[in-house]
Amino acid sequence: TSETSTGSSSKTSGDAQWEFPRDRLILEETLGEGEFGKVMRAQAWSINGQEVYSTVAVKMLKGDGSFSEQQDLLSEFNMLKEVCHPNVIKLLGACTQKGGPLYVIVEYAQFGSLRSYLRKIRSLGFECNDVSVAQVGNPMYLSDGGDICRHDDVQLTRRDLISFAWQIAKGMAYLSDMKLIHRDLATRNVLLATGNVVKISDFGLSRDVYEGDTYLKKSKGRVPVKWMAIESLEDQIYTSKSDVWSFGVVLWEIVTLGASPYPGISPERLYQLLKAGYRMEQPETCSDQLYRIMVMCWRDNPRNRPSFKELVHRFDRMLQDTT
Ligand code: ADE
Repeated sequence: TSETSTGSSSKTSGDAQWEFPRDRLILEETLGEGEFGKVMRAQAWSINGQEVYSTVAVKMLKGDGSFSEQQDLLSEFNMLKEVCHPNVIKLLGACTQKGGPLYVIVEYAQFGSLRSYLRKIRSLGFECNDVSVAQVGNPMYLSDGGDICRHDDVQLTRRDLISFAWQIAKGMAYLSDMKLIHRDLATRNVLLATGNVVKISDFGLSRDVYEGDTYLKKSKGRVPVKWMAIESLEDQIYTSKSDVWSFGVVLWEIVTLGASPYPGISPERLYQLLKAGYRMEQPETCSDQLYRIMVMCWRDNPRNRPSFKELVHRFDRMLQDTT
């Protein structure tokens, strides 16, 4: 009965195998909104072939959207067709037929963005410890003991944080093997599903790699300056190694439980500072070992940064050493 249950995707397949009838989708609440797009929770009838409703997430444009926004959503759809990894958000279907807006249907991640989750944990932690919320990255968190937060049904340990980093590195290693560059890796674009599984999402800005391993961004746009590698800021060069730089910022976001990077520094000023050799300092909650990895991700020369594969190995070992 389901058009989406027929086989795996392939580069040659059209959209037919992904097409999902609009009338089997019940849109519920908005989960997240960007400038041009939004994501809604929905119930999808028999999207997995069984006669049941499943909770899904539906990506769409706000209003009509310009041509380039349409292209971004289509490019995200096309790229999701090619990927299959436990740490990358999974495509379930799409509504592409005329007579309605383009909907891209992906798996639902129960806990939403990793950024919002980390920030929530931070606020609960402060409640537990009765310390002012203003003290971002208070050292009492990660300095000793395994628990970062234990609060009713939420519990997060240092090991969980390393596991988040490890899973993101695994998903990114897969994408870079597929010659895909994300270009907007940040905790706001990583989702948290049940069982503390993280999933890389938001491929709106991602592009296939062509001509060697460099993508030169040609036009416009929304630029996540504080996550961008120095060569992306300077020459709009995007590679898997510029994704590695962003991953370094993601590590910083994780250890600070969702703080905003380069606090007090305006995006306009950042490039000159980085060029002069400035990098974010070691957060008080960050081990020397983890900070060394961050700084490697932020090396000037992209070739000198670790690959995602190398990063996976490092976190593998850290997980073995952490109980
Ligand atoms: N917010 C954005 N995308 C989402 C998804 N797939 N699941 C849950 N929340 C989301």
